[in-house]
Amino acid sequence: MSKMIPPHIDRVLFTEEQIRERVKAVAEEITEKYRGRELKLIGVLKGSVFFLTALAREIGLPVKIDFLAISSFGNQKSAPGLVRIAKDLDDSIEGEDVLLIEDIVDTGFTTRYLLQNLAGRGPNSLSICTLLDRTTRRIVQVPVEFRCFEIDDRFVVGFGLDDRQLYRNLEYLAVMKPDGK
Ligand code: IMP
Ligand code: MG
Repeated sequence: MSKMIPPHIDRVLFTEEQIRERVKAVAEEITEKYRGRELKLIGVLKGSVFFLTALAREIGLPVKIDFLAISSFGNQKSAPGLVRIAKDLDDSIEGEDVLLIEDIVDTGFTTRYLLQNLAGRGPNSLSICTLLDRTTRRIVQVPVEFRCFEIDDRFVVGFGLDDRQLYRNLEYLAVMKPDGK
């Protein structure tokens, strides 16, 4: 059944079909890199959930899944990028091959914090896979190994990404109207 495009959406950036194709291609790269090994996918709640489930089904390896949630605090001007873990992983990652699954890497603060935190737990390897990469706004450098799309500076929603907790369930990625947020 076709659904209405919500009024605050300006235009579709990537269709469901385009996302499916890129997810499949990235899953193939991942399958190649980790061939013969088990992989642990760590999803960052809540934005990465839709991406993680789509990706996991396309990866041709034994996969484990765990989640953590973060919350950002601090002031955009005086103390940007302060992040803490609000819900931790259920299980240890010691000795495991870990792929951190992000919805979007923007300034890079969140991802850098998570990388440092997870690296301290002794994984065998630790890499980053993101649905969206906005390198033009990067403040701290992080090694993004796998990504589906590079995007520019407009705020996007859908396929897990929210605007004030809404629009995560859109099956496409879309740009908000400038006055829609
Ligand atoms: P960073 O720490 O600046 O890299 O921010 C990453 C987080 O900001 C992401 O996990 C998203 O939750 C949020 N974010 C950044 N840009 C967007 C966007 O365009 N739409 C929705 N959420 C965004
Ligand atoms: Mg978010």
